[in-house]
Amino acid sequence: MNDIKYKDMEFHIDEGLTLEEYNLLQKINEQFTNDDIYIEYLHDKLIVHLNKLDLEKLESLIRSINIPNDSIFYNILKKIKGIGSYGIKGGKRVFVDYDKERKVLDRKAKEKKRNKQFYTVGHNFSTKNNKCPEEFLDRIICGDSEQVLKELPDNCIDLILTSPPYNFGLEYDNDDDDSHYWENYFRKIENIFSECIRVLKYGGRFVLNVQPLFSDYIPTHHMFSNFFIKNKMIWKGEILWEKNNYNCKYTSWGSWMSPSSPYLKYTWEFIEIYCKGDLRKPGPKDKIDLTPEEFKSWVVAKWSIAPERRMKEYGHPAMFPEELARRVIKLFSYQGDVILDPFNGAGTTTVVAKKNKRRYIGIDISEEYCKVAQDRINSLEDDEYYAQ
Ligand SMILES: C[S@@+](CC[C@H](N)C(=O)[O-])C[C@H]1O[C@@H](n2cnc3c(N)ncnc32)[C@H](O)[C@@H]1O
Repeated sequence: MNDIKYKDMEFHIDEGLTLEEYNLLQKINEQFTNDDIYIEYLHDKLIVHLNKLDLEKLESLIRSINIPNDSIFYNILKKIKGIGSYGIKGGKRVFVDYDKERKVLDRKAKEKKRNKQFYTVGHNFSTKNNKCPEEFLDRIICGDSEQVLKELPDNCIDLILTSPPYNFGLEYDNDDDDSHYWENYFRKIENIFSECIRVLKYGGRFVLNVQPLFSDYIPTHHMFSNFFIKNKMIWKGEILWEKNNYNCKYTSWGSWMSPSSPYLKYTWEFIEIYCKGDLRKPGPKDKIDLTPEEFKSWVVAKWSIAPERRMKEYGHPAMFPEELARRVIKLFSYQGDVILDPFNGAGTTTVVAKKNKRRYIGIDISEEYCKVAQDRINSLEDDEYYAQ
């Protein structure tokens, strides 16, 4: 006997194994070392002893044998694939003790001593949440968010998803060329963000999409992070939105072939997530609409999503794609939650909120964009996707 530790899984078999299945069992036990996996055959069950595994090798071995799709071996394969927590070593999934080296003894006590999220100490967020007044719900509101948001009560919004104007000269509607002194820009946006923090529920989330900045060397995402941290919001994390738009590599180089001032280019944007008061946002289980696959792939914080291709069609120069909003909304809110976008533009957040059975409020200063956003919502009624 060896002293390897295993994760054991039992699979009942009513009528024994067929000859092909029995041969497959032998092959698995021959082709994999006992240190990785071995399968024991007792009269009415198989016991899989699993330590680590080259899953692709097991899958191709099983598929190479002529057994039916409902064979117990496909069930075993599915169960192993479904194990969500494992390490990876030498190309194999490691199912036992994979986090041993990283285990911190007395983790809880140490966290307490260090004082988790020390920067939020002394916040005075009320834990009492309020209902959002019905007259604001499911509306596209045209106005300056700084003013409009003042009409909402404290603690009434579950999730804010937004991408502010960038201040680097995009030609938006309404004479505004989106180019102001940076101090004025930050003052204005932060006034709006302060209102957003006020209207967020305790446990609510603020999800902010920002581009890395170009020629002015202003690290907008860091400046905004500092703002939220100073305002005692918990920084939950950052998602890297990989847009794969490699065509940017053909634009200016800064200093060609010289360390003098090479110009850095980005194919991605950032999604920053802040929580008000608590990282946890409890909600009804039957209002969760994430599939296991979505959850597993979206918590890996690098999302590869193509940029929005319909900006010309909607007449807006800086939209994010629906898929981005869909992931944020499903991962960070429940069906029935109230979703707000204070810079709603052509209405991506609001249209996706509606498609996914959330209530929404979208505010934009441009009448033109508000009209586009409203038209998108109106056209949803007969959209087959929405009907699902
Ligand atoms: C980056 S765009 C948002 C685009 C949006 N995410 C979409 O997918 O269509 C920023 C928007 O902020 C709006 N905006 C700028 N200042 C505003 C303010 N004070 N109040 C409300 N909206 C404002 C602009 O009109 C612009 O549509």
